[in-house]
Amino acid sequence: MNVLQELKNRFAHVLSDYVDDPAPFAEMVKPAQDARFGDFQANCAMPLAKRNGVNPRDLATSLVEKLNVTDLCEPPEIAGPGFINLRLKDDVVEGNINQAYTDDRVGVSGVEQPLTYVIDFSSPNVAKPMHVGHLRSSVIGDSLQRTMRFLGHKVISDNHIGDWGTQFGMIIYGYKNFVDNAAYESDPVGELARLYRLVNTLSDYHSAVEKIPQVEKSLETLAEELSQMEADADPKDKKQKKVFKKKRSEIESAKDSIKSLQEKKAAVADDPELKELAIAHPEIARLAREETAKLHAGDAENQKLWDQFLPQCVEALQGIYDRLDVHFDHTFGESYYNPMLAEVVADLEAKGLATESDGAKCVFIEGNAAPFIVQKADGAYTYATTDLATVQYRLKEFGADKVLYVVDARQGEHFKLLMETIKLWLNTEIDLQHVSFGTVMGEDRRPFKTRSGDNVGLESLLDEAVRKAREIVASNDDAKTDSTENSAPELDEATRDEISQIVGIGGIKYADLHHNRESDYVFDWDKMLAKTGDTATYMQYAYARIQGIFRRGNIDVEQLRASSFRIHLDESAERALALKICRFGEALDTVASEYRPNLLTQYLFELAGVLTTFYGECPVLKAEDETTKQSRLKLIDLAGRVIKQGLDLLGIEVCEKM
Ligand code: ARG
Repeated sequence: MNVLQELKNRFAHVLSDYVDDPAPFAEMVKPAQDARFGDFQANCAMPLAKRNGVNPRDLATSLVEKLNVTDLCEPPEIAGPGFINLRLKDDVVEGNINQAYTDDRVGVSGVEQPLTYVIDFSSPNVAKPMHVGHLRSSVIGDSLQRTMRFLGHKVISDNHIGDWGTQFGMIIYGYKNFVDNAAYESDPVGELARLYRLVNTLSDYHSAVEKIPQVEKSLETLAEELSQMEADADPKDKKQKKVFKKKRSEIESAKDSIKSLQEKKAAVADDPELKELAIAHPEIARLAREETAKLHAGDAENQKLWDQFLPQCVEALQGIYDRLDVHFDHTFGESYYNPMLAEVVADLEAKGLATESDGAKCVFIEGNAAPFIVQKADGAYTYATTDLATVQYRLKEFGADKVLYVVDARQGEHFKLLMETIKLWLNTEIDLQHVSFGTVMGEDRRPFKTRSGDNVGLESLLDEAVRKAREIVASNDDAKTDSTENSAPELDEATRDEISQIVGIGGIKYADLHHNRESDYVFDWDKMLAKTGDTATYMQYAYARIQGIFRRGNIDVEQLRASSFRIHLDESAERALALKICRFGEALDTVASEYRPNLLTQYLFELAGVLTTFYGECPVLKAEDETTKQSRLKLIDLAGRVIKQGLDLLGIEVCEKM
């Protein structure tokens, strides 16, 4: 049973005497922050009293008089200005924990009204190797897909790969002009990636050469303006400070961009071979764009190259997804919608939504400076057009109620325009959500890059994680020789390898998922793989420790599960652990309503903490009598199952031994 939901329902029932729409007030029933005040707390009396112009404590008192929770709770207590504190009856907690124990779903009930979710995640632009930036969308999206499914929703996951964009023109141009056939034979994706980088580097060079003088000129102007302003400054005018600050920051960003342009220029100018190529291909950027345009127009040669490249690119991606254990129902990709785009624009025009502006076709959204461009002046369709077609398709083919776009926060503007346009265009209730996330940063608090300034490749990142995990696993196991348990290392080489995969990949995923997704976070190996603290390793140890207790006590888990012993909660640490276990479903509900896997990591971390307290106060194998021992064994067995299930919903595995 989801107790929190039940309490909310009971509150909603009485709250309807005070307000027309009780739902938002019933939502103010929350798990208590501090166990001393009970298990749940309702904070609705204060805002409701303010609204109705009455005394909050009086209102709380009258609410409590009408509230019928005697079957679940001890008599409610009113504290401070009108907080209502609720403590579950011990036999209720005991009943729930025993019910959860025999339930495959560890006590989590499925949703009453399943919805159809399309989750659009990972979605890299192919033809470039995946980098650390792709990690977030892949792991957050996967965790949401697992959680929504577990809760009973219908989930259709779609990897909306960028397989039709300008990067294909770049590799087509690169292939036609610079391919190293032998390299392509032996490692096609590696060679395509090299070609992509080469074309990019050469285009960047030419654009830097062109832009540097312009930016230098504007830097000069800015500097002159600033010194003029300083000369005319009026010390009494406080507002000026802000204006100065703004000017100075403009100057700084101009300097930064000159620096970065100069680096791009130098990367080619300082390398005789590249320099020669740059001179031989002065129009490379425009010509690469033309290759893309030809591909989109159905040019046979480019289509043939695309048909040849795409499966190779997709296969390389698949390698990463296999390692991450991330799966999709579909990988339609942008190209899939190409045949639908002309009709989308025609329909937008017919409905008077798209209008021409400077030769381009745009949807103008009120209150928004930038339009949603659906067809460029040269006839090309855009990322926007594809996304419009995609929504239409997902509605029609999947009957989607909700679409979650797990995409970088920097695309916020795009999704805002997409949502507004859909509202105007299709008469639909579909709910589109941009599940946005921040950037992975390096120690210098800038986007995480390698020393040479390249994006950090995902493949090498995973290798490194597993390598580091291997060191940790080995040294821990070696250390067992002189531990108090007096045991020898227990893991053979193959087991160590297997555990390192689970710990390394799990560590990377957890480190990503445990941050509030909207924040940027600093990538930190040491924190990520630490044995204590809010890490996957800590949770995996908590799980393995339980299995270790079973091994030491020669406990046959199947037998334990089949036995008729009941879990009973005599000690406060037992009750606290049982209550926490019963809150798993609440945690999942918040993950699902806010699309935040970090609320699940937070729950698991708290569960592990309560478990540690429990061990300190309640011996398990050495419990005072057999009934207590069996009860506690069942309790930690269930804790282990919740940890395993919770980690699974994060896409993280556990090991029996570590
Ligand atoms: N391929 C895009 C990128 O790498 C992300 C696509 C997200 N999904 C979508 N339907 N727009 O930036």
